[in-house]
Amino acid sequence: MIILKSLQEIEKIRKACLVVADALEGLREVVRPGVTTRALDEYAEKFIIAAGAIPAFKGYRGYPCSICSSLNDQVVHGIPSREIVLREGDIISIDVGAVLEGFYGDAAVTLPVGRISPESERLIRVTEESLNRAIEAARPGNRLFDISHAVQSHVEGQGFSVVRDFVGHGIGRNLHEEPQIPNFGPPGRGPSIREGMVLAIEPMVNAGESATVIKEDSWTAVTADGSLSAHFEHTVAVMADGPWILTKR
Ligand code: MF3
Ligand code: CO
Repeated sequence: MIILKSLQEIEKIRKACLVVADALEGLREVVRPGVTTRALDEYAEKFIIAAGAIPAFKGYRGYPCSICSSLNDQVVHGIPSREIVLREGDIISIDVGAVLEGFYGDAAVTLPVGRISPESERLIRVTEESLNRAIEAARPGNRLFDISHAVQSHVEGQGFSVVRDFVGHGIGRNLHEEPQIPNFGPPGRGPSIREGMVLAIEPMVNAGESATVIKEDSWTAVTADGSLSAHFEHTVAVMADGPWILTKR
């Protein structure tokens, strides 16, 4: 069942989402060569708690940290570590979730570490563009897979591939609610998009093939072919006049 939210509920989700947005904004300044992904996690955790919220991922199904930090060929759910040091030319995906007054916010960005290759830059740009196109499709009157199709058509048109093993999701009083939102699919199909839906839309895009493998830590997803991967996510409310990006200031 897809839970529709009232304006009051959306305003509460918005508060959680602003903590996430501001944490990600702060992390942009922390990311640079020489920093460990553990330091990113510590920064985000302190930020979320100082804002009066709770890190949403820590303890979720046993996940050990407050952010996911996925480096280069890591797709999602990379576990922050003191051993993982950012280096010039890397790309790092950072996923942040927070709970405030019982409501969740969830967003992710992929950032360059120092100067990166033109192809890495293009991967990041196309992934973010695919999220923006997907968000534009999140309006009453459309169907859910219009969102999926918007991602897939843009990404594949640019010669990259869409990850099929992970999906976006509804969000509200829980981190993961219905519906699941694949990043591929036929336009004009799936559930009707209605005012009051709140959706975490999160394209994951590989430079090579779409297949992923989970590492021995049972969390970290990497590309099967070792190619680079990027990830962007926003929590979005479907309003009568179109999408409202809750994880954006
Ligand atoms: N944005 C991711 C998701 O919605 C983050 C979840 S990480 C987890 O699935 F640790 F909480 F699982
Ligand atoms: Co999510």
